[in-house]
Amino acid sequence: MFNSKIIGLGYYLPENVVTNNDLSKILDTNDEWIQERTGIKERRWIDPKTDDTTSTMAVKASKIAIERSGLKKEEIDFIIFATLSPDMYFPGGGVRVQDMLGIPTIGALDVRNQCSGFVYSLSVADQFIKTGMYKNILVIGSENHSGGLEKSTRGRGVTVIFGDGAGAAVLSRCEEKSKGVLSSHLHSEGKHARELMLDGPHTGRWVPEIIAENDPEDQSYYPYMNGQFVFKNAVSRFSEVIIEGLEANNLHKDDIDMLIPHQANLRISQFIQRKFQLPDNKVYNNIMSYGNTTAASIIIALTEAWEQGKIKENDLVVLAAFGAGFTWGSVIIRW
Ligand code: ACO
Repeated sequence: MFNSKIIGLGYYLPENVVTNNDLSKILDTNDEWIQERTGIKERRWIDPKTDDTTSTMAVKASKIAIERSGLKKEEIDFIIFATLSPDMYFPGGGVRVQDMLGIPTIGALDVRNQCSGFVYSLSVADQFIKTGMYKNILVIGSENHSGGLEKSTRGRGVTVIFGDGAGAAVLSRCEEKSKGVLSSHLHSEGKHARELMLDGPHTGRWVPEIIAENDPEDQSYYPYMNGQFVFKNAVSRFSEVIIEGLEANNLHKDDIDMLIPHQANLRISQFIQRKFQLPDNKVYNNIMSYGNTTAASIIIALTEAWEQGKIKENDLVVLAAFGAGFTWGSVIIRW
């Protein structure tokens, strides 16, 4: 059995900044409401005039991660791509990245676990590396939310929260047993699937049926969230899964050097920070600038924290996520 370690990190954000005041011009909201409830000041939304898509952003982030890893792209053995907003209904984004990066015909796997997507993907990559099946895996989270949001007052409870962006990590075989991914812990509770979802066109209600109904009130192809219910579940599941990860490694909350929570809501992150009595320099948040970028949020935040020198050799880094499904999970890393 081998350990796995992150050896390259990168992210890409669309240039187009959308402030809360910009949103207040297209729907009934205001900067004070958004900042008070979520902490978000602005987010990035793809300018449709650019070539940015979920996959092209993923490629831009991946190129940076691969370059920083010191590997040649030909040395990547496998791609894992987490997104809820693929360019196409099928195939998924992994194969698009394989093609656009010009990597040989390696395997590509898509992960559909929304805000927990990156944590799930990292865990899957870790298992492949542990068994020796692969040596270097490109793990990506990328989202184009702006293309699918309801940009009117009816959708304001969801629309103001989400942003676009991509992040990527190269996970590699590591010979040192005490370094890299120490453990991952994954959970789901599908009975709450309808509390946060995009019902959309699906095989039980396909496009011709929707066209035939021609119902202007139909919101099924926009994301729906029961915000307060999700919030309550998020704070308890985040805490549980962080404790589970620490206990599995005989670690204590005081051992945490850096907690990177999925950027769902600054209030959720602050709740977790208080619960674990962590000082400000041990929790990294960037939701203020980027909103919730779902599968991309943890990897963008991890990359930024690392770039800013906030993560050093031997630090204990805890990643934790909660989102639609419900799904949640944590990954404990010795950097
Ligand atoms: N601007 C102004 N008013 C608004 C807006 C807005 N953008 N959105 C909603 N409101 C109004 C509502 O209409 C409501 O008005 P009413 O009282 O007259 O009916 C009022 O504000 C309160 O609405 P709530 O939905 O109860 O607001 P809440 O305090 O719950 O905040 C929020 C909403 C920010 C969404 C919060 O519930 C939350 O963060 N939930 C968790 C999100 C999360 O963790 N998601 C998981 C990851 S996402 C994923 O997996 C894809």
